[in-house]
Amino acid sequence: MKKILVIGATSAIAEYCVRIWADRGDVLYLVARNEERLKTIVADLKVRGAAEAHTYCTDLNNMNSHAELLDAAEAAMGGIDTVLIAHGTLSNQKACEQSVEETLTEIKTNALSTISLLTLIANRFEAKQAGTIAVISSVAGDRGRASNYVYGSAKAMITAFTSGLRQRLYKSNVAVVTIKPGFVDTPMTAEFKKGLLWAKPQAVAAAIVRAIDAKKDDVYVPAFWWAVMTVIKAIPTAIFRKIKL
Ligand SMILES: NC(=O)c1ccc[n+]([C@@H]2O[C@H](COP(=O)([O-])OP(=O)(O)OC[C@H]3O[C@@H](n4cnc5c(N)ncnc54)[C@H](OP(=O)(O)O)[C@@H]3O)[C@@H](O)[C@H]2O)c1
Repeated sequence: MKKILVIGATSAIAEYCVRIWADRGDVLYLVARNEERLKTIVADLKVRGAAEAHTYCTDLNNMNSHAELLDAAEAAMGGIDTVLIAHGTLSNQKACEQSVEETLTEIKTNALSTISLLTLIANRFEAKQAGTIAVISSVAGDRGRASNYVYGSAKAMITAFTSGLRQRLYKSNVAVVTIKPGFVDTPMTAEFKKGLLWAKPQAVAAAIVRAIDAKKDDVYVPAFWWAVMTVIKAIPTAIFRKIKL
């Protein structure tokens, strides 16, 4: 039985992860900003068999709440074995181009808030020489594209930060799992036309849980995105700058 903290727990992908953990009988601590949604999810998890499901309500851009939410999770569960950080917003690229404020808010939600949490969690796990930290980044962080480079650059920051953190914490027996999904059919992408490259959140969640169990380093979900991104990253800049992706 694991003690799992899920940050951004009302995300569609995170919700399917917590269902799997509830089915296993794990102890869960869910953090999100929508109290009603949290209550509905917890009611469902209890029916599914979660040993315990606690909640904490906060806007994660309020970084003053981060240390307190970690203290509350540790107190409620008697420690934390695994953390999944899943919150995020798909930035409106056009709006960001017209507004410094909008751009910085998106960077705050998709990168800085996560980096604040990672810094605090890393120190706690390093001190006890145990734990698994999983973060949902994105394939969008692998190469900036005109259509979503604000979101992509925030995710690139997460990918680079977790890469460094993984090296730092290796000798402390702390695993850092960076998850890079491709296109996933969730509320975040509700307005997009879906095609062959799209995955369902259930399948993505199952792959995330497997990656956390195996303490993988960097995982593309679904796995074929590794090949797609290898090709995209290999395109010379002189060509890449002219194409529309
Ligand atoms: N869907 C995709 O195609 C895709 C692809 C690659 C990576 N990802 C990443 O996967 C993760 C999960 O996204 P999803 O697809 O499951 O989308 P989602 O269902 O829209 O979930 C996003 C979650 O983030 C929460 N959130 C946003 N800003 C927050 C804040 N300031 N404080 C607290 N919670 C906040 C939202 O809460 P509210 O419901 O209260 O707004 C929502 O629960 C995100 O990190 C996303 O960037 C998604």
